[in-house]
Amino acid sequence: MMKKQVLTGIKPTGRIHLGNYIGAIKPALRLAENVSYNTAYFVADYHGLTKVHDQHEMKELSYGVTAAWLALGLNPDRAIFYRQSDVPEIFELSWILACFAPKGIMNRAHAYKSMVEDNQNSGREADAGVNMGLFTYPILMAADILLFQTELVPVGKDQIQHVEIARDLAENFNKQYGETFVLPEYIIQEETSVLPGLDGRKMSKSYNNTIPLFEEPKKLQKLINKIKTDSSTPEEPKDTESSVIFSLYKEFATSDQVEEMRGRFQGGIGWGEAKKELFGVMNSFIEEPRSKYKELMANPHLLDSILQMGAIKAREKTIPFMKEIKRKIGI
Ligand code: ADP
Ligand code: TRP
Repeated sequence: MMKKQVLTGIKPTGRIHLGNYIGAIKPALRLAENVSYNTAYFVADYHGLTKVHDQHEMKELSYGVTAAWLALGLNPDRAIFYRQSDVPEIFELSWILACFAPKGIMNRAHAYKSMVEDNQNSGREADAGVNMGLFTYPILMAADILLFQTELVPVGKDQIQHVEIARDLAENFNKQYGETFVLPEYIIQEETSVLPGLDGRKMSKSYNNTIPLFEEPKKLQKLINKIKTDSSTPEEPKDTESSVIFSLYKEFATSDQVEEMRGRFQGGIGWGEAKKELFGVMNSFIEEPRSKYKELMANPHLLDSILQMGAIKAREKTIPFMKEIKRKIGI
């Protein structure tokens, strides 16, 4: 049986937070363990460049994403694990795909569109602060996906449109030159597709409401204490469904612990106590990967060599496929 190709990337634009872990890394790690799949995971540093324009920050954040994957259990011997910028064929393909990308699709891509809307609402010029990297972001992402003949792309809900654009561009190319690219599909983790942040909105760097995954215990406790709660007394029963504390607790506790906590919510538990319990389960989950993460971050040479090995494996696929693509277009 042919193994299915799975691919996903994370851009180094901030410290990895719990939402990234639950929504993207955890499901991707599960797929990497499954023998029916070939997996390719990468650090999307050139996508990060649309936002991060500081040399030091780019380096630190890229190492941070790399160390996070490894600390959480990615085995680089099983998955192809690389840095996007180490695989030049991606950028060559990105240009080719740009020549098959109707500009109208880019106008409607959500990251660009929401920036334009923000600008308009604040009375600025529509394209203020928009660089062409941000505008053509979905084309580079399509190149990431299509160059590996990817069938499945595990992502959060916000990335669905980008995977659909990759399909569109693949179809446009295939129509002209015959079957070349596989049409990719996204996979969404339904029940954990949106992990709430400290303020109850989606946990996101953009909202400043994140819990960084490898936070030190004291800071972690402080962040948890910041989670907004209502003014009910400890004796009053509490709704589990609408509680950020309960939603987060569910992700890190065993099913027995979750059932017990559900009972305590119904029977009455003080918010302070609930927060302590949440800290307990989160911290014991994070402890081991946190120390592994720290070790890896102290050894950038090791991270570089793992990524370079990954790039060699990646290019065993991308170089020959790129040759075939160029032959098809007559270049
Ligand atoms: P952010 O929203 O913090 O900028 P990214 O856009 O870098 O996060 O997301 C990287 C990956 O993590 C994506 O696949 C995204 O869908 C997923 N992700 C981010 N935040 C969450 C969340 N709160 N819940 C579930 N998945 C998330
Ligand atoms: N755009 C994705 C994000 O912001 C990151 C990414 C870049 C990606 N290239 C990709 C995800 C290819 C999946 C496949 O989260």
